[in-house]
Amino acid sequence: MAKMWAGRTVGDTDKIADDFNSSISFDSRMYSEDIEGSIAHATMLASQKIISDEDAQILIAGLEGIKKDIDSGDLAIDFNCEDIHMFVEQVLTERVGDVGKKLHTARSRNDQVALDMRMYLRKQSNQIIAKIKSLIEVIVNQANTNKYTILPGYTHLQRAQPIVFAHHLLAYAMMLLRDKDRLSDTIKRINVSPIGSCALAGTTYDTDRDYEAKLLGFDEVALNSIDGVSDRDFCVEFMSACSLIMTHLSRLSEEIILWSSWEFKFVELSDAYTTGSSIMPQKKNPDMAELIRGKTGRVYGNLMALLTTLKGLPLAYNKDMQEDKEGVFDTVDTIHKCLDVMTPMLDTMTVNADNMKNAALKGFINATDLADYLTKKGMPFRSAYKISGQMVAKCISVNKVLEDLTLDEFREYSELFELDVYEAIDLNTCVQKRISKGGTSTKSVEEQIAYVLENIKE
Ligand code: ARG
Repeated sequence: MAKMWAGRTVGDTDKIADDFNSSISFDSRMYSEDIEGSIAHATMLASQKIISDEDAQILIAGLEGIKKDIDSGDLAIDFNCEDIHMFVEQVLTERVGDVGKKLHTARSRNDQVALDMRMYLRKQSNQIIAKIKSLIEVIVNQANTNKYTILPGYTHLQRAQPIVFAHHLLAYAMMLLRDKDRLSDTIKRINVSPIGSCALAGTTYDTDRDYEAKLLGFDEVALNSIDGVSDRDFCVEFMSACSLIMTHLSRLSEEIILWSSWEFKFVELSDAYTTGSSIMPQKKNPDMAELIRGKTGRVYGNLMALLTTLKGLPLAYNKDMQEDKEGVFDTVDTIHKCLDVMTPMLDTMTVNADNMKNAALKGFINATDLADYLTKKGMPFRSAYKISGQMVAKCISVNKVLEDLTLDEFREYSELFELDVYEAIDLNTCVQKRISKGGTSTKSVEEQIAYVLENIKE
């Protein structure tokens, strides 16, 4: 088909080359940003008297009609067009006649595509932030119901010290708060308008870039037109922020998978978020959590792909940059899907407090508190640590736990032991005495909940 850019060349391009070159199959998702950008462009051109007010009105009405018809399905995207920018301009010219050909004055697809991507990612980032906040709210709800639920905290996946389940969950809330802040910070650099950079060198027309940027809700304009059309840092930053979100969702997924195993049985996922096996009738598989963990790889891959694409590019625009889109779009879709499934899955997850408590009772996770008991009675910590370790070894050999020992048995190890040792190594005491800032006591956990809630307010 005849190309809008035909002029310098007259021969038809090869069909395979056309397909190879085309991006409309994936960039058509930016049609509303493209049209909104064009409406602002026509408005600016008229306000600067570069085109007449009548022409601007015709362009704007035409563009609004195209938007409405794509929205309603009355206008189908023509996948024979090279990209969404060409498609919109072509339909506009078909509909309004030669006036349509004035829209691209003082503009290039190079600044246009950068504009569309920035508007698209600004919107997506805000939606993702809203979803992160919903997930944090669900975590806080689960934390509120589990402020006294004791389980072992682990290091090296070995039972380490008793904690409350709320404390463990709130660690994820803290990660997600940072994720939200990282995306908000990224939006600052997304929200810089490239439009008016034109092909690369700016323009001889008396445009008003600040006005056009303001119409589109941008805080600033790119101050170097070559950078304006070449910069894809904002895509890298977005994908990098998303990679960390996926890291956090993946770690949480891994724990949910472990906790729902028969070996742990700490939690049970709702039937709505599990699957059965086609052969083993007893199975209830945490497929959703596994898929979130699995999809993390593609989000990291998209980030690495774009970094690699950009690293050798000379300034300014190169067609390599069209390769930014599929990775960015796949990242957007993946993040949305993962957050959409993680939030209700966590919300409907039930906690088996008895199993958590039983696990906590068996792992000598009060051994640190036993050492602290002796330290507080005057023994240097390192000596107390050694005695506590010897007592654990003894208990293991006789199949007991520390609290099973009689006071006489305790005193074989140190004269400092008195009756209050039982209270000191009781798991509730171990947890509730950890009142240090950020610690596991219910009091500390309540402070953490208050902090988290404060930080997801508008
Ligand atoms: N489809 C192109 C992209 O996504 C639009 C910009 C094309 N610019 C050009 N000079 N060929 O990057």
